[in-house]
Amino acid sequence: MIHYRRKYYDIFSHFYDWVISLHSKDKTLSLRHYLARSTKVKPGDRALDLCTGTGAVASVMSEYVQDGLVVGADFSFGMLKKAMEKADQKGLKNIFFVVADAADLPFKANIFDVVTCSHAIYELTGQTRGSALKEIKRILAPMGRFCMMEHEEPKRPITRFLYHIRLLSMGKEGRRIVQNEIQELQGIFSNVSREITANGKTKLICCERD
Ligand SMILES: C[S@@+](CC[C@H](N)C(=O)[O-])C[C@H]1O[C@@H](n2cnc3c(N)ncnc32)[C@H](O)[C@@H]1O
Repeated sequence: MIHYRRKYYDIFSHFYDWVISLHSKDKTLSLRHYLARSTKVKPGDRALDLCTGTGAVASVMSEYVQDGLVVGADFSFGMLKKAMEKADQKGLKNIFFVVADAADLPFKANIFDVVTCSHAIYELTGQTRGSALKEIKRILAPMGRFCMMEHEEPKRPITRFLYHIRLLSMGKEGRRIVQNEIQELQGIFSNVSREITANGKTKLICCERD
């Protein structure tokens, strides 16, 4: 199953940025900067952007950790290849990309100060999401912060309908985090907070490791 999902994202990587540019009005990456600032990241920190895709959040994070480093991890080599090309074009030196399954991260315990994950936690199917959240806790240093960003339930009828189709496709287990995300995160992390951005379209959830 994971093999097919990885293949799907490898193919999607060829037009992922184009699709995002079509429907995203966030041309200045302000949401990704908002996510980065919410992690309270410091210049010397080690940051992980999990399910980094083509590296949009990872490259924003690299501006905030100039004396530290950013690792972008994803299980799709296709996505990472695009992320590496973009980081090279921007001349980013403190950013590294690693092929990794979110459910089984190839990192030692306690080594990251912050972990981000944008528009991907909901995409993790079956047991993967629960395992990924435990892995995030394991690799975070004590008091390290995890911040995730996802779409809020849309207000317009058509996009709301599509959103609910997506929820149906996630299956019962997948829908659990959407319906009970705070409780699910509170079972693993502390100081869980949730806020909706000013345009009402995106939600940001942050929490800490004890
Ligand atoms: C919707 S994209 C989001 C990409 C990026 N974070 C962004 O905000 O543009 C979801 C990403 O999650 C990755 N992904 C899905 N399941 C994964 C898994 N089990 N382990 C690692 N990456 C995974 C996909 O390859 C894809 O790049």
